Amino acid sequence: MNSDQTVHGACDLDPAGLPVHVAIIMDGNGRWAKKRLLNRVKGHEQGSETVRTIVRTSREIGIRYLTLYAFSTENWERPKSEVSALMTLLNRFLINERKEMQDNDIRLFAIGQLDRLPEPVITTLKETMKLTRDNKGMQLTLSLSYGSRSEIVDMVRAIAREACQGKISTELINENLVSSHLNTCNMPDPDLLIRTSGEMRISNFLLWQIAYSEIFITKTLWPDFSKEEYLQILKEYQSRDRRFGKIKT
Ligand code: IPE
Ligand code: IPE
Ligand code: MG
Repeated sequence: MNSDQTVHGACDLDPAGLPVHVAIIMDGNGRWAKKRLLNRVKGHEQGSETVRTIVRTSREIGIRYLTLYAFSTENWERPKSEVSALMTLLNRFLINERKEMQDNDIRLFAIGQLDRLPEPVITTLKETMKLTRDNKGMQLTLSLSYGSRSEIVDMVRAIAREACQGKISTELINENLVSSHLNTCNMPDPDLLIRTSGEMRISNFLLWQIAYSEIFITKTLWPDFSKEEYLQILKEYQSRDRRFGKIKT
């Protein structure tokens, strides 16, 4: 049986036309909680349930790369109590999901300024990445303490250093070289970018990499984002005409 037939509602997706790489800006946890007069942390907790659902669905239908924006460089400016609750939640998520990742051949990867994360999270992250590094079914990348501008600055620094050391000549600097010096060097650019909660912005996420991604913004808040809506977006993605600046002849 094809994997697409095993997922309820996914049978009308064309397996050959699936995005290879889906990236998601998971936004709206705080508003979800506020609407219910709950603490923002409750929104993040419910949001982590959505992460489980979307990871599972992605793997089931055959997405090869799923990249989730979980914590931005700017999010460090939030109140200490919220940051600390998010870090605790992240640590718990990584430990709890290890079995699921192993059972489903999912490799965990992380991008961002990882050295800024609290020590226990770094340890759990490293252990989980090591445990799952040979898994080939899908790469799940968490963007943690991630900011695209700082990633670009690091890339420029690295290339400038190599040029100064005479390892590369400036004529060799091209788009491939730039891509290979970004945190995302081991994955293709996202085909599809989804943002929940209706905000019409990128918030410092994968600026270089989304040059030709198809963008979908839904008003649904991340904790309410469902498998059904995800499949609907994938269906709509398949009806988009990706021209890459060309015209049909
Ligand atoms: C997204 O939800 C999660 C993180 C940014 C960590 P928010 O916490 O930004 O929720 P809103 O945007 O305030 O509703
Ligand atoms: C973007 O959401 C970052 C993550 C989803 C991790 P934010 O809530 O931080 O972004 P803004 O403040 O709406 O731009
Ligand atoms: Mg937000």
